[in-house]
Amino acid sequence: MGTKYPPINPKFPHFLHGGDYNPDQWRAMPEVWEEDMRLMKLAHCNAMSVGIFSWVQLEPAEGQFDFGWLDRVMDMLAENGAYAVLATPSGARPAWLSARYLEVLRVRPDRQRSLHGGRHNHCFTSPVYREKVRIINTKLAERYKDHPALLVWHISNEYNGECHCDLCREAFRAWLKRKYGSLDALNLAWWAAFWSHTYTDWSQVEPPGPIGEMSVHGLNLDWKRFVTDQTIDFMKNEIAPLREITPEVPVTTNFMGTFPGLNYWRMAPELDVIAWDSYPVWHQTESDWELAARVAFVHDINRCLKGGKPFMLMESTPSMTNWMPVAKLKRPGMHLLSSLQAVAHGADTVQYFQWRKSRGSSEKFHGAVVDHAGHENTRVFRDVAEVGEALEKLDAVIGATTCPAVAIIYDWENNWAMSDAQGPRRGDKGYLEACQRHYRVFWERGISVDVIDMEQDLTGYKLVIAPMLYMVRPGVAERIEQFVEAGGVFVATYWSGVVDENDLCFLGGFPGPLRRVIGIWAEEIDALPEGETNHIIPTAGNALGLAREYEIGYYCDLIHAETADVLATYKSDFYAGRPALTVNRFGVGRAYYIASRSGLDFLRDFYRRVVDDLQIEPVLPAALPEGVTAQARTDGAQDFVFVMNFAPAERTVELGPQPYRDILSGEPATGSITLGAYGVRVLARASKG
Ligand code: GLA
Ligand code: ZN
Repeated sequence: MGTKYPPINPKFPHFLHGGDYNPDQWRAMPEVWEEDMRLMKLAHCNAMSVGIFSWVQLEPAEGQFDFGWLDRVMDMLAENGAYAVLATPSGARPAWLSARYLEVLRVRPDRQRSLHGGRHNHCFTSPVYREKVRIINTKLAERYKDHPALLVWHISNEYNGECHCDLCREAFRAWLKRKYGSLDALNLAWWAAFWSHTYTDWSQVEPPGPIGEMSVHGLNLDWKRFVTDQTIDFMKNEIAPLREITPEVPVTTNFMGTFPGLNYWRMAPELDVIAWDSYPVWHQTESDWELAARVAFVHDINRCLKGGKPFMLMESTPSMTNWMPVAKLKRPGMHLLSSLQAVAHGADTVQYFQWRKSRGSSEKFHGAVVDHAGHENTRVFRDVAEVGEALEKLDAVIGATTCPAVAIIYDWENNWAMSDAQGPRRGDKGYLEACQRHYRVFWERGISVDVIDMEQDLTGYKLVIAPMLYMVRPGVAERIEQFVEAGGVFVATYWSGVVDENDLCFLGGFPGPLRRVIGIWAEEIDALPEGETNHIIPTAGNALGLAREYEIGYYCDLIHAETADVLATYKSDFYAGRPALTVNRFGVGRAYYIASRSGLDFLRDFYRRVVDDLQIEPVLPAALPEGVTAQARTDGAQDFVFVMNFAPAERTVELGPQPYRDILSGEPATGSITLGAYGVRVLARASKG
């Protein structure tokens, strides 16, 4: 199995390696540009993201354009064999634009219009702003359409935020009218009779905010959906001239992992390639391998956003990140390891923020390839060059993908709805943490996983895990039933099947539409304060062969087994003896329900049995030592196995009988290999096909 995707832009069938490049900050020092070119080659960099925040340099006064400096930068890149990931500049506008057109300034939820400053703060509805963006984007596309350096369009920068201006509020009402048709339908969907919130005229509907309404969950949810849709609409306006003038140049925008403000699953279809900015806090509060597993989860989301198509690691830091509470440096080895980790999960680029440290302003201490010292004789520069050299040997990996048998559902709207709920606990509901905990077990064993939202097709997977599937939108339960009926294994947990797509509770018993496939009724849910625990005791002779008790806590669903068999029960409290783990046979498949939040010990034992039953194969046959994972990409003929040691100590890994070739060293590898602290190897083997 395995599809080979084309390179991001077929005119450059190699890994992109480079970073955010701000030559416009150095126009007064032209010798710096020359030096940048020399250093780029030394660092094995080939792609620079330019123009992200250059609007005022490109259009110093309204309608007056100055592309001279960018022409020179583009030419210099091309002359030096490098490419531009060329940005549209909407992420930060000129002061003259804000001064002349007040409406481009964002209005905050408290209805205060912001002053000019900062970035990422435009009104996404303003016709003036859209028009100005369209003009500059059109100019850029026309000017560089035939330029040899133009490789990828980088749309804006890290879209985020919302605007509460009159224009946006009107657009929201129009969006609602399209969705609901009538106020009656809206009032019903939002359960507006609560606290006398029934609307009798469309003009009464306002976005949620601290000086107004925040308790109508249906409103909150629709506002978030609107913000995503309006951002998409704004983005489409940006993209339109580019697609028209440069149809062959791929378009992307940089996402921010699991950033809750925008549903990336809805944005993905508008882009040619997915890109994201990854800034893990290495070497701090948790072990590096715990963190690595969580980062891997996000890389996998980005691979899945376009069904397995390789993505771009658009930003990562070459050393430290200035906005973290403590800016710890990457320890030796971590730069290559974390860069190749992205590649292992499907990235066809390794790019940085930033190429050169700026001299002033808030990012002057952010990690960069080139430090204020200004030369190549630094640890960080050597680390970057090492990554560049490694990527140059990995051409064969370009376009290869991963086709896992396991999927975990992590869903943006589910997160929105759950975060809004008051009860069973306030604050963080622990949704992401739950998904990442289940994921971790697979990561430790080197089993590839897709991370998808609840809308995706489940056929092709053997195991689908949906921790805390609180919201179940129409059609989802039906797809899960079909999947299980046909032989799939589905795993659900506590607090599932509670609300519908409008955040209205299912009537007639939880887990609502999942009740049939899971075969249980969840009557109540107990939330335990941090530190308080209960235990679950496996039933004698249970089908999973579980033999010892496990500590659980946080959430305990009090369930009744209907058609399901009980595999474990609660040990104590008033619900001692009641079911805590069940399995329901449904068609030729099975659905498990884990009624409480368990630790890794339970999840490891549970999934070992489930995975073995399904004959799901890890990337490497033998068990992996602590801190090590193996992830693979395949093109159908060859598998590229990335063996990664996130432990700060040496580890030995058994490869099994198959012969491998170490792509970076060119040496054959068989039997076992030893990885140093933060060591990484990329091994090729014949694919099983
Ligand atoms: C974000 C932005 C960059 C830069 C980095 C710093 O990812 O896109 O412009 O500010 O953060 O980490
Ligand atoms: Zn607005």
